[in-house]
Amino acid sequence: MYDNNPTIDGIKSIDESQQGSVFFKESPTPGLRRFYIESYGCQMNFSDSEIVASILGDIGYAPTRNMEESDLILINTCSIREKAEETVRKRLRVFEAYKKQKPGTVVGVLGCMAERLKKQWLEEEKLVDLVVGPDAYRDLPNLLGGAEEGNRMVNVLLSREETYSEIAPVRLDTNGITAFISIMRGCDNMCSFCVVPFTRGRERSREPFSIVAEATDLYTKGYREVTLLGQNVDSYKWDNPETGEHVDFADLLRMVAEIHPDLRVRFSTSHPKDMTDKVLHTMAAHENICKYIHLPVQSGNSRILEMMNRTYDADWYRNRMEAIRRIMPDCAVSSDIITGFCSETEEEHQDTLAMMEYAQYSMSYMFAYSERPGTLAARKYPDDIPEDIKKKRLNEVIRLQNAISQIQNKADIGKTFKVLIEGDSRKSDQDFCGRNTQNKMVVFAKKGDLKPGDYVTVTIRDATSATLLGDIV
Ligand code: 5AD
Ligand code: SF4
Repeated sequence: MYDNNPTIDGIKSIDESQQGSVFFKESPTPGLRRFYIESYGCQMNFSDSEIVASILGDIGYAPTRNMEESDLILINTCSIREKAEETVRKRLRVFEAYKKQKPGTVVGVLGCMAERLKKQWLEEEKLVDLVVGPDAYRDLPNLLGGAEEGNRMVNVLLSREETYSEIAPVRLDTNGITAFISIMRGCDNMCSFCVVPFTRGRERSREPFSIVAEATDLYTKGYREVTLLGQNVDSYKWDNPETGEHVDFADLLRMVAEIHPDLRVRFSTSHPKDMTDKVLHTMAAHENICKYIHLPVQSGNSRILEMMNRTYDADWYRNRMEAIRRIMPDCAVSSDIITGFCSETEEEHQDTLAMMEYAQYSMSYMFAYSERPGTLAARKYPDDIPEDIKKKRLNEVIRLQNAISQIQNKADIGKTFKVLIEGDSRKSDQDFCGRNTQNKMVVFAKKGDLKPGDYVTVTIRDATSATLLGDIV
């Protein structure tokens, strides 16, 4: 399943991005209480589920992938677009039916929808027993105790400090080679379309030594790649209260990269306004920092970017792309794009297509604008682009990205890449799959006693828009 990356032809479709994932570990020990968790949304949410698993583990809960053998059902939710919320609602109906068959089961909602929908689900519809916001997971044992006694429990308080710094995540659904490490929480950017500042609160950075310790621990356990996660990693900052030492994102990248040359480092997501040349030079100076940047543009038009409150314009974005190309000519860049934002004209949409042509993204996550209650855009601008126009523009963006991915991947034919083996290819256990530094998935025939976690050199023989096919050199 490892090459089952969330892209279709190099593109993450809207529908796929809303799919949940069921986490599991080995069979739980008999007699333990068991929890079943589904996660939706971004990698931060999946990473949070691993923190939840750790907190639950401390009070005797083991994970199961089988809802039928669970005593506790959790759904870690996303609010980013309306569709994500609808999906969760449907799943809650399924859990409700299950609970009727097995009374005593506790059903809980975690994550980004908690704050917005707590009243409705807990008090009005009585759909769930437990609602816990992203900063309140330490309170889970206490809340669970109340819920097990038949009370409806809620804690959606957001924190200015919580980073779950010292909690060692329990790795769920892992390939044993690649892992995510959360380095900061929340977001202070206030992009006008985005619900995140309201669901996840203010930005705060995790203490760097606990990040390095977590990455080192992963390395000693056989992991060979870590992805540092945050809504806006480039604004990572930490001041040592004792020495006054300042650690920025470039410093943190260097600290993690220096753990071991065989430990690859990735990160996501970068905001164009904060991505400094210092970060780019740090990437260039370390072979094991992967040459791949997720740098969401959102729109290629400066008026729309201003309305989105992105705090950069199209020229600034192009300047950042030029810096990347100058400092790391082999670096791949991917993007997020929104079509049909409030008042977007056809010409402004064309600017987005032009930006995609200019940037030559290796892939993009593409969405039609979805108005979210409470956001700046919802308060200030009418959601006035008809659904069919939003979809038409989205399809044009998807088609163009597909063509760009296809051309770029074909251009890789004949090239040779260092690939980290992640596991069997999805289609055949005769093949391995793994990524090159640019984050492209490479599939190749197994050879000798190579195993997941090894690095191999692969020459590319063929390519689709999503995958490179090659042979071990
Ligand atoms: N409508 C559509 N897409 C959105 N995103 C965030 N909020 C919205 C919204 N209201 C997209 C942005 C962001 C990605 C995580 O989701 O492109 O970068
Ligand atoms: Fe969804 Fe955003 Fe929350 Fe991630 S942070 S789960 S994308 S709403």
